[in-house]
Amino acid sequence: SRIVVAIDGPSGSGKSSVSRGVAARLGLRYLDTGAQYRAVTYWMLQNKVDLADPGAIAADAGVPAITSGTDPAAPAITVDGEDVAAAIREADVTGAVSAVAAVPEVRARLIALQREIIGAGGIVVEGRDIASVVAPDAAAKIFLTASEEARAHRRNTENGGGTGTVAATREALTRRDSVDSRTNALAAAPGAAVVDATELTLEQVIDTVAGIVIH
Ligand code: CDP
Repeated sequence: SRIVVAIDGPSGSGKSSVSRGVAARLGLRYLDTGAQYRAVTYWMLQNKVDLADPGAIAADAGVPAITSGTDPAAPAITVDGEDVAAAIREADVTGAVSAVAAVPEVRARLIALQREIIGAGGIVVEGRDIASVVAPDAAAKIFLTASEEARAHRRNTENGGGTGTVAATREALTRRDSVDSRTNALAAAPGAAVVDATELTLEQVIDTVAGIVIH
């Protein structure tokens, strides 16, 4: 199938688990665009780029070599050949990624890479701007959301609950949403189906999204 499925939504909505589940179920490839923004951010932290200076970020936007694997059973991401799948989930990257993702040179570069990977289709692509910018012709567009409380609980559990309280996670998440919303509207694109995951299990959300795709 040459279909493109766009799944956008805020942090903690369960986008990654849902997108991988839908891709596996439908026999499609999978692309996590957030992981690419995180990978560029990881490289900039490693290379001591001044992240308070958008000009410095822009100047190096094209330097790190990024590769993304598209198997939903084994998502992979490398920077300059290094496997960074675990490192990009660390708190320092999470705290800095919104500022890096706000820089137009970073976005232009990653959007071009994303379109190259999407190619002729057959892929589920998750992010913030997939239906609106990266793949506006996607055959299926989903906006996955959940209440702020549900998102904070989910993210806290994903972090192993070890990094702090749900209240602290909720505050960090709200702060990132607020910076992110200046870069991409955290709202459904025209033509997108809104799926609210607040009261649903992962299986139920995958069923719902897969149903929308096949429809
Ligand atoms: O933690 P979460 O899964 O919500 O975030 P992510 O999908 O890994 O994305 C990390 C960050 O990358 C977001 O907070 C955005 O700042 C940025 N991002 C973006 O600007 N555009 C995308 N298509 C995907 C992510």
